[in-house]
Amino acid sequence: MFKLPELPFDKNALEPIISAETLDFHHWKHHQAYVTNLNNFVEADSSLEWKSLEDVIKTSSWGVYNNAAQVYNHTFYWNCLRSVEEDNSPKWELLSQIKKDFGSFEDFKTQFSAAAIWNFGSGWTWLASNASWDLEIVSTDDAWTLIWTDYTSLLVIDVWEHAYYIDFRNARPNYVESFWKLVNWDFVEGNMK
Ligand SMILES: [Fe+2]
Repeated sequence: MFKLPELPFDKNALEPIISAETLDFHHWKHHQAYVTNLNNFVEADSSLEWKSLEDVIKTSSWGVYNNAAQVYNHTFYWNCLRSVEEDNSPKWELLSQIKKDFGSFEDFKTQFSAAAIWNFGSGWTWLASNASWDLEIVSTDDAWTLIWTDYTSLLVIDVWEHAYYIDFRNARPNYVESFWKLVNWDFVEGNMK
């Protein structure tokens, strides 16, 4: 059985950008619902019982895939966040890789923000490294994840409306712009290894 992971920060740690109320809904209701749905599938299909979350994602489709991928994506998203830091930026190896592939950190943020804002409907926008270890910005629809691709996920923003509606209403661009103050670059850089 799968468990809802704890948030890696206090539930008011992302204020004033992402409120405790948003986290109550997003973590305790939405993320929990994906875990509960996935466990219902596991109960009904013993072949899923001993698989890791990644293996379930790689070997399933439809409802099982969607719920397993959403469990994975949300856990990854929480790990990408930390308390507000006004002048928040990557360091060391990641920064030089970003400069190599996007020109500058500012150019990267502009391109990533545009991809997240224009990711139509519900989905996720990722910074990932491809098979040649170049960085790319990749948007996925609905629950889609990068686990069964050649990409290595480094950073993600959740652009489902439930991620920002309480704090930003329909203004996704404001949520995306504020997201940069919350990115946990240590986690992102750790994913390069
Ligand atoms: Fe979400």
